[in-house]
Amino acid sequence: MSRKKITIVGAGNVGATAAHWAAAKELGDVVLVDIIEGMPQGKALDLMEAGPMEGFDVNVIGANDYEATKNSDVVIITSGIARKPGMSREDLLNTNKQIVQSVVEQVVKYSPKCIIIIVSNPLDTMTYLALKTSKFPRSRVMGQAGALDVARYESFIAMELGISVEDIRAMLLGGHGDDMVPLPRFSTINGIPVTDFLSKEKLDKIVERTRKAGGEIVALLKTGSAFYSPSLGAITMAEAILKDKKRIIPCCAYLEGEYGLKDICFGVPVILGAKGIEKIIQLKLNDEEKALVKKSAEAVNKTIDELGLR
Ligand code: LAC
Repeated sequence: MSRKKITIVGAGNVGATAAHWAAAKELGDVVLVDIIEGMPQGKALDLMEAGPMEGFDVNVIGANDYEATKNSDVVIITSGIARKPGMSREDLLNTNKQIVQSVVEQVVKYSPKCIIIIVSNPLDTMTYLALKTSKFPRSRVMGQAGALDVARYESFIAMELGISVEDIRAMLLGGHGDDMVPLPRFSTINGIPVTDFLSKEKLDKIVERTRKAGGEIVALLKTGSAFYSPSLGAITMAEAILKDKKRIIPCCAYLEGEYGLKDICFGVPVILGAKGIEKIIQLKLNDEEKALVKKSAEAVNKTIDELGLR
């Protein structure tokens, strides 16, 4: 069996860390692409040289063009600028749309059968742009947000309770913005409702911190945004696809009527396997949850409208 091939576009903090996770998990050969000469090659070689210590047998190469990415199975796109303190993800739209569009054109040219995972912000809008630019079916273009946002939500629950993160299973819907919708009613600790462990006040605080968690890191770092957890979010999705695991992970997916939403890329739980998004799972929401989803979708729609593609 030949090895799988993963291309990661953008060798900044998110892209390089994604390459690290992918190699450490031995998911396949990795191609790291960036426009800066020498930089992806240097990071790739450095990572290869870590192989003997960790024992991963994969090739990691760096490139400045797309020839080396040919016939990738999964392509993770992290290109574009990150937020600085005080900026919203939406403030990145005008810069990142040109970058993401030209990257997707190149990716599609060399890997017409790949599955694309978008990490660039504003996430839901960049996923929409990638889907329209690629002309791929919706099963093969998705955005990384839910995996990260759920992990943040789970981390905060674990920190509050002093219980292992391994036993916490949370669920979350919506856009990757401050209106995202963490769902306490669908979150459990080893099957026990999280609401049995935490008061409404405590849960409300955790939900609020989850919504603003990206900004919390930006405010601390001052020079950019989070990268360990966002990159692992993308690699968790890639792993589910490459190993055909059929995992249920919230991802940014193109909706055609699910959750009452159409022509939008939006965070929903999906089954991820070898074909990409194999199924969109529709949760039975109550009226309060539906109203929160509607608000989040309005925020996402506003930014997608600014692309002028509808
Ligand atoms: C965050 C950025 C990567 O949520 O969107 O940290």
